Amino acid sequence: MTRPVTARVPAKVNVQLAVGGLRPDGFHDLANVFLAVGLYDEVTATPADSLRITVSGADADQVPPDRTNLAARAALALAGRHGVDPAVHLHIAKDIPVAGGMAGGSADAAGALLACDALWGTGSSREELLALCAELGSDVPFSLVGGAALGRGRGELLDPLATGAAFHWVFAVADGGLSTPAVYRECDRLREASGTGATVEDIADPEPSPALLEALRTGDPAALAAAVTNDLQPAALSLRPSLAETLRAGADAGALASLVSGSGPTCAFLAKDTEAAEAVAAGLAASGTCRAVRTASGPAPGATVLAD
Ligand code: C5P
Repeated sequence: MTRPVTARVPAKVNVQLAVGGLRPDGFHDLANVFLAVGLYDEVTATPADSLRITVSGADADQVPPDRTNLAARAALALAGRHGVDPAVHLHIAKDIPVAGGMAGGSADAAGALLACDALWGTGSSREELLALCAELGSDVPFSLVGGAALGRGRGELLDPLATGAAFHWVFAVADGGLSTPAVYRECDRLREASGTGATVEDIADPEPSPALLEALRTGDPAALAAAVTNDLQPAALSLRPSLAETLRAGADAGALASLVSGSGPTCAFLAKDTEAAEAVAAGLAASGTCRAVRTASGPAPGATVLAD
């Protein structure tokens, strides 16, 4: 009997999410600066009679335990590539907020790939794994590599970025998720309504901010706070107006920067150090503007197989 394999995979926050116009294929070109943070899901792969998914954790009931789950699709894609029978039980221990804008589903896909590759001895190269990740979703390659990276294209073309220090974050978890496609659609709708148009012909190519990359490189939280941006934030706020109160509560509690994480609805708050992060977390918890508060720092390592 082969031993189970567990992969641990981090959440992410986008410190810059510059969104270009809508492409003919339905995606948007991005300048997407990812930072992996120390909130993790764990995916355990165990031999079984057939593909089976189970999920544990606070939001487990919101995760589909079937073949629509991105982790199941990852296992099927790897098995298909190598002609292996996808007879595996995948257990997902969730700690990353579900549908929260922190790449929880992408993390589970990257974890399933890594765990199944080790379980089945399929010995995929890093390049093969990255190509499979990109087929599964725009954020999945970053879940595999972690750290900090600039994502171009639809977010899947990654260049690693140097970071001079750990950055300390507080996350306000909202009640219920937001659908990523719905947030992108709302971004397009708001652009149309403002008269700019929403397609690649109308919107300038997204570019990374030199000031932001420099702040990451030097590890300066105040400089990073001054440079963070998220082009999806107006759309997330339009769909979930109550997030404005959450953002204000974090700012009132002393955060250096307050922003929606990715497509939301999780809100991210940058703090000077761990002590300041604890104070922001306490202020947010007392504000009653979110369901739960978490602290985590980044960059965190990408998907990793845990030793037994
Ligand atoms: O790549 P992924 O499957 O995660 O994307 C989910 C949806 O988010 C896409 O179908 C698309 O509607 C939207 N999206 C986008 N542009 C991107 C990434 C995602 O419009 N760069």
